[in-house]
Amino acid sequence: MSKKVGVIGATGAVGIEMVKVLKDRNFPVGELHLFASERSAGKKLETPFGEIEVELFSVAAAKEMDFVFMAVSGDFAKEFAPQIATDDGAIVIDNSSAFRYDDAYPLVIPEINPEDAKKGRLIANPNCTTAILAVALFPLHKNFGVKRAIVSTYQATSGAGAEGMAELEAESKNYLAGKEVKNEFFAHPIPFNLIPHIDKFQENGYTKEEMKVTWETQKTFGEPDFKISCTAVRIPTFRAHAESCTIETEKPITPEEARKVLADAPGVKVVDDPEKLEYPMPLNATKQYDVEVGRIRKSLVFENGLDFFVCGDQLLKGAALNAVQIAELLV
Ligand SMILES: NC(=O)c1ccc[n+]([C@@H]2O[C@H](COP(=O)([O-])OP(=O)(O)OC[C@H]3O[C@@H](n4cnc5c(N)ncnc54)[C@H](OP(=O)(O)O)[C@@H]3O)[C@@H](O)[C@H]2O)c1
Repeated sequence: MSKKVGVIGATGAVGIEMVKVLKDRNFPVGELHLFASERSAGKKLETPFGEIEVELFSVAAAKEMDFVFMAVSGDFAKEFAPQIATDDGAIVIDNSSAFRYDDAYPLVIPEINPEDAKKGRLIANPNCTTAILAVALFPLHKNFGVKRAIVSTYQATSGAGAEGMAELEAESKNYLAGKEVKNEFFAHPIPFNLIPHIDKFQENGYTKEEMKVTWETQKTFGEPDFKISCTAVRIPTFRAHAESCTIETEKPITPEEARKVLADAPGVKVVDDPEKLEYPMPLNATKQYDVEVGRIRKSLVFENGLDFFVCGDQLLKGAALNAVQIAELLV
């Protein structure tokens, strides 16, 4: 049966992808409403569903929907998502971090904990970095028992929204023209740099982005004591996050066994042929649904352990695709 679908934040980096994914995956969209603030209300957007005029967001209009995909800020979600996800309202899938760490709300990665999607009308979509790593880490954990994981990330500017990408483009041009390079959006100039600081610093010295990887892996795996730490770094790419990961496992593990498990895992594509110069990279992972995994090798540090590299489109598996996959579980 076709559904009334609303996308709030439809003009943003995630919202634009959400509309494309709904079409691409044949989600049963009967009516599509695109909502944003007064800045964009009235604008006409070219979408795969044809030209659609952006509507000014209101709780009343959003409650008329069957499904609402929310891609605005955490503060916005905190205020409005519970007002929309009432029994007489819509099912809300929220892309912000507002509800992810609250036990009252499910946090779902369909390849990992699809059963949790039915536990509420307001469902949290995971952090992009977490989702990309988790689809590769979970099958390894199920088969070999991951005792601990240590992660470093290489995160694209679009992970910070459309303005992040715009700053990389504009300031790279300034840099190459020998002009002053400004940083209004990032903490430091981003062109030809990398910044080991994403989101706010916490009391323990990690940033919130880094703690999201820990908290959300623990919640989606259903293992509050799962040991994982992260160093999150912003780099001057436009799109797709990369992550290097080291794991220690309970059971012995070889790269060949890991490749076999990952080749059968949903949402994962093994790209691991160094002789042919094939490994995961942002330019290849961009606009792909699957997360690429490669550079799989036996750890030199742990008796039972591996090093590997993943790369995934954080606007897709890290946001829009995962959200639509959650909705698919509910139709
Ligand atoms: N970027 C990523 O890779 C990524 C990945 C996972 C999760 N997320 C999360 O997804 C959310 C959206 O991120 P984004 O990167 O898409 O941000 P973005 O590019 O900055 O887009 C923000 C969107 O929110 C809309 N908006 C702002 N204030 C509004 C209001 N008062 N009422 C209605 N709409 C409003 C904006 O519309 P206007 O055109 O009217 O300003 C725009 O469409 C954030 O919570 C982010 O943390 C992002």
